[in-house]
Amino acid sequence: MLKWLWSFIKPYRVRLTIAAIALLVTTALTLSLGQGVRMMMDDGFAAQSQSGLGDALSLFVIIVLGLSVGAYFRFYMVSWLGERVVADIRKKLYKHLVSLPPSFFEDNLSGEIQSRLTTDTTLLQTVIGSSFSFALRNSLTFIGGLALMFITNVKLTLIVLMVVPLIVFPLVFFGRKVKKLSRDSQDKIATVGAWAGESLQHIKVVQAFTREDMVNEQFSDAAEGAFEVALKRIRQRALLIALVMMLVMCSIAGMLYVGGSDVLTGQLSAGELGAFVFYAIMVAGSLAAVTEVYGEVQRASGAAERIRELLATEPEISSSAETGNLTVEHHENPTEIEEAQLRFDAVSYSYPSRPDTKALNDLSLSVAPGERIALVGPSGAGKSTLFDLLLRFRDPQEGIISVEGHSLHDLNLNELRSQFALVPQQPVLFSTSVWDNLRYGCPDATEEQVIAAAKAAHADEFITQLPDGYHSFLGENGVKLSGGQKQRLAIARAILRDPKILLLDEATSALDAQSEHLVQQALNELMKNRTTLIIAHRLATVSHVDRIAVFDHGKLADIGTHEALMESSDLYKRLAQLQFNKTL
Ligand SMILES: Nc1ncnc2c1ncn2[C@@H]1O[C@H](COP(=O)(O)OP(=O)(O)OP(=O)(O)O)[C@@H](O)[C@H]1O
Ligand SMILES: [Mg+2]
Repeated sequence: MLKWLWSFIKPYRVRLTIAAIALLVTTALTLSLGQGVRMMMDDGFAAQSQSGLGDALSLFVIIVLGLSVGAYFRFYMVSWLGERVVADIRKKLYKHLVSLPPSFFEDNLSGEIQSRLTTDTTLLQTVIGSSFSFALRNSLTFIGGLALMFITNVKLTLIVLMVVPLIVFPLVFFGRKVKKLSRDSQDKIATVGAWAGESLQHIKVVQAFTREDMVNEQFSDAAEGAFEVALKRIRQRALLIALVMMLVMCSIAGMLYVGGSDVLTGQLSAGELGAFVFYAIMVAGSLAAVTEVYGEVQRASGAAERIRELLATEPEISSSAETGNLTVEHHENPTEIEEAQLRFDAVSYSYPSRPDTKALNDLSLSVAPGERIALVGPSGAGKSTLFDLLLRFRDPQEGIISVEGHSLHDLNLNELRSQFALVPQQPVLFSTSVWDNLRYGCPDATEEQVIAAAKAAHADEFITQLPDGYHSFLGENGVKLSGGQKQRLAIARAILRDPKILLLDEATSALDAQSEHLVQQALNELMKNRTTLIIAHRLATVSHVDRIAVFDHGKLADIGTHEALMESSDLYKRLAQLQFNKTL
């Protein structure tokens, strides 16, 4: 763990050096206070001298002044390092998480990952920013104090030292246990957080189904579980602290008895004993402090382990570094129009969690530039999956997908994805203003462009009626909007991006007949000369496309115009009859 941490601390070597110097100086000064104690007792009290006492105390004050200055630098530098390093680790972790494919987040609870980002890194910060320097300072005090003890009196030192092996053994033994328990406890806390987050986010469903009690119970079980694990850890540490304290104090008592006898017989001066006791207390205190911190370091190393695990997860989808493949403007050269813009060649995909069912099965399809294709078919047929593959959120197990003649594997991910604008099946809005949400895919858009896009999606009207217009805050995932309003914002966002290829997944499903008609017109405008894949359940909304692809159980069952499909595809005919009869 230290080696890993060092890679984050290394860039700040200068600060580390200053901190180390301050640490050494303050430790040396603290220990030299012992000489002040000796002077005070021998030159002041024993010699019954007022001036001796004054000298001793002036020395004391000077040392304390130096100590304060040193302590300032030590504390400042070390805390600075702790905060800095943790900020760096957080940034690195977040950057890594954002690069992971969506499948990673399907298998890991987002709340749990957030806890890694916050709780675990905070633990690390405590260790680097305080515990570590605390431990180092105390170790130095321990070594220095021990040396001074030997110099002052060898016999007494040996008496004190007899207990050291008795302390080190439980320290190592308990430390291992604490580390394991602390990892368990952090895991528990992360799970608790994740559950709480989920139920709070979906509070309407929880309350509508009156499951508050059940959620409460779940949460309190989890919280109690976390408490149990924490309790085990605390017991271990309490035991350790008590044991160490007892041993240390016993040895000090023994030493005081022997030393006191020596003073009585005149073999030792009172000042020497005083200084020795001062050192011994310092040494014992530092040892106790190190044991305290040791537990904390163990906890932090559990945290570091988890962060390292997360950082080590390789994104299974890697981007080709090569850019520029897609920048050739194809519209300028009419001969290229013949070439397919999108092409699926015998593509099969099954979700990793369901290896036996193929969500897409031996799919071949090519889409010409500017062509508008509708994807229809029963629920679960694999339509949305196809979009996922196109955006390369997942890689197919078999077959090749290409954009403008380049296999997706040969394209830079950013470049590939910037060809598309997606209106997802569930519109996603971020908890900022309308303004920021609209400009999400196109941060440089001007005010006029944003408003034009909103007008085209028939969103302008309702936006201007919001309390703060375009600057209204939308709440988490747009809770302050209706379903249809969210959808229109998602469409406006796509319009603003002005992509080469448009992907619409049930983009108008939540709109009433009138707004649907209006938005449809806007979309028709947008789809002109633009390759478009549009998924729709209601066939009426896709009557104007060039071709309709019928999906069934992951297979492309048929493709053609509405009229042709009415002849050739039983499935399509059935769907059409059901819907049109109903609407009539
Ligand atoms: N993340 C996932 N992990 C495992 N299986 C999934 C996942 N997402 C979808 N599936 C499964 O893959 C199949 C195809 O799903 P897909 O979302 O592509 O359907 P769809 O055609 O878009 O349906 P709908 O019209 O209802 O949106 C379904 O059987 C679904 O259960
Ligand atoms: Mg879908």
